[in-house]
Amino acid sequence: MDVEERVEQGAEPRDLNGVYRYYELAKRAEWQIRDLPWGEIPPVPEYKGSPQKLARRQDLWRSVITQQLQADELAVEMATQLFAIAPDHEAKLYYTTMVQDESRHTEAWLKLIQESGGMAERDPYLDRLAQQVLDADTLEEKVFLMQVFYERLIIPRFRMIARSSRGTVLEDLCNRLAIDDGIHHGAGMAYERVLLEGAGKKVKTTLVVAANRLLPIFAQHALWRPKAREFIGALMRETDIRMLREDLENGIRLAKSLGIDPSGIELPYQLN
Ligand SMILES: [Fe+2]
Ligand SMILES: [Fe+2]
Repeated sequence: MDVEERVEQGAEPRDLNGVYRYYELAKRAEWQIRDLPWGEIPPVPEYKGSPQKLARRQDLWRSVITQQLQADELAVEMATQLFAIAPDHEAKLYYTTMVQDESRHTEAWLKLIQESGGMAERDPYLDRLAQQVLDADTLEEKVFLMQVFYERLIIPRFRMIARSSRGTVLEDLCNRLAIDDGIHHGAGMAYERVLLEGAGKKVKTTLVVAANRLLPIFAQHALWRPKAREFIGALMRETDIRMLREDLENGIRLAKSLGIDPSGIELPYQLN
């Protein structure tokens, strides 16, 4: 229901103070591409060793950066769509900051990928994940899938990349992105709460259905390894599965805190 329909029906105006606070927070946290230490420290970790080892390491970092670039490229599209369809003034204001953030993130990744040897293989599951959000029928579903779920789950990944790339532009960027996505997630939680206020069981059930559509693809995305990272794939699989399990537990906790009954959420087959 948009703002005019609500006014016509004499509905109580929504309290969007929480969302507005995230707009102010996002403005304060805004940074610029020139704030990154370009040229002062290496873009990605540097190694010593045989040419083969160096080439393999370069491929590894290219592939990490490509995946993040792809994720932020898709985030620009999703944030733009949220900006376009959100009916509330405060939410629209907030989304102007998110569109700028995601496009600045993309700009940083584009610069970083150029300094690290160019694009690598795209993750097909990430494209499908974003398509599901873009094609979702309602604003409630889109905010839920993107901001409540996905943007929360990406944060530990940024921390993990930062930990393994100390003293590089990549580390600095990942630390900034962890903060930005924390704000995106917080804003999404605040807005979803407003959207679900007084929403009936039907709306909440559509969110469970949407989560069940998304989760198997999310699991495939979380466990996917491009060729450049196949050699560490076997080593990482246990960690990947553990992180995926934590992600899903977190997702379920978040759904509960929004008043959604998570008992209908099905865990992807990989974890059963
Ligand atoms: Fe982003
Ligand atoms: Fe984001």
